Amino acid sequence: MRVLVVGAGYWGPNIVRNLLEFPEVESIGISDLDASKAQKLVQRYPRTHVAESAPAVFSDRYDVAFIVTPVHTHADLARAALDAGLHVMVEKPLTRTSDEAKDLIARAEQADRRLMVGHVFHYKPEVRALAELAKSGELGKIRYMDSVRVNLGLFRPDVNVMWDLAPHDLTIFEAVLGGRMPKRVAAVGASHVPHPTSPQETMVHLSLDYGDGLMGHVHVNWYSPLKQRLMVVAGDKKMAVYDDINTAEPIKVYDRGTYDPEQDTPAYPSLRTGHTFIPNIRQEEPLKLQIREFFNAIKEGRAPETDGHSGLRVIRILETAMRSLKEDGRFVEVA
Ligand SMILES: NC(=O)c1ccc[n+]([C@@H]2O[C@H](COP(=O)([O-])OP(=O)(O)OC[C@H]3O[C@@H](n4cnc5c(N)ncnc54)[C@H](O)[C@@H]3O)[C@@H](O)[C@H]2O)c1
Repeated sequence: MRVLVVGAGYWGPNIVRNLLEFPEVESIGISDLDASKAQKLVQRYPRTHVAESAPAVFSDRYDVAFIVTPVHTHADLARAALDAGLHVMVEKPLTRTSDEAKDLIARAEQADRRLMVGHVFHYKPEVRALAELAKSGELGKIRYMDSVRVNLGLFRPDVNVMWDLAPHDLTIFEAVLGGRMPKRVAAVGASHVPHPTSPQETMVHLSLDYGDGLMGHVHVNWYSPLKQRLMVVAGDKKMAVYDDINTAEPIKVYDRGTYDPEQDTPAYPSLRTGHTFIPNIRQEEPLKLQIREFFNAIKEGRAPETDGHSGLRVIRILETAMRSLKEDGRFVEVA
């Protein structure tokens, strides 16, 4: 397989490093507007070469393209790669608008090419374990999911913090809920850091209403003294806490909650504090699992697990949240 990686900034080198572990990868072309960045990677890794600039680089000299550039370039680059007959993996978020995402999905279908979005958390063993806990019924009926994803920077000029970080939380929510979409979304946010051109929110609180009392909540922030990656998935039987910073014990399952409300007085349900269970999770780099899934989907001629539709679902939520942000946090129906 002749692979092309477009974008050799922060994330591109991680893709290249993982690609080198796949025996089916014959060669890796690296293309960046800043040729010195591509050159630097080529000096570090075997089987790589500097490729010309996009979109001229998309041709039958390559079979597969990884688009690892800023979000505002995704749609144009992915479209050109698909039109040149390549299978395409686009980093998250897939595009800036749902119309652009729909266009890419249609082009990929028409050309019979695979289109994948880099929803890397879908492939995290911890997220698979959380999804399994929910699916097996161990947590009971899911009541809410609360997620905090904050740190200092890395500030992106072309999107706000929600478009940058919340795709991860939305991907995890989707995995835990087996693909269920929220019915309504509300978001409030603020910009706390001066921006050279137009102010972008550096902090957003996003609320997701799935109906039937199930709520999701995401707090993303680029202006925090601490790096936190903490999620609570609360069911009516047990509650799971996923701390992505704690690599030794990332998931804890608490047998805590209330007793059967039918046996309690309605005003004062008694509390249950049982054992805490720590599942053993076999670590594997999610980016490697993501690339393996992409290559398997190409070989088997099927849609990858995180296909264009998966990317589109996340964008529909983010677009709805943008409307809410502009309307002072009002709940808006997801179209
Ligand atoms: N999955 C993850 O956990 C994860 C983590 C970080 C970034 N990302 C995603 O990866 C993408 C890139 O992020 P980054 O942090 O590497 O950004 P970055 O700004 O560090 O790097 C982007 C690179 O793309 C190059 N570039 C810009 N336009 C180009 C074009 N038209 N053709 C060729 N090269 C071009 C830039 O010169 C730069 O080197 C974004 O979509 C981001 O959301 C994903």
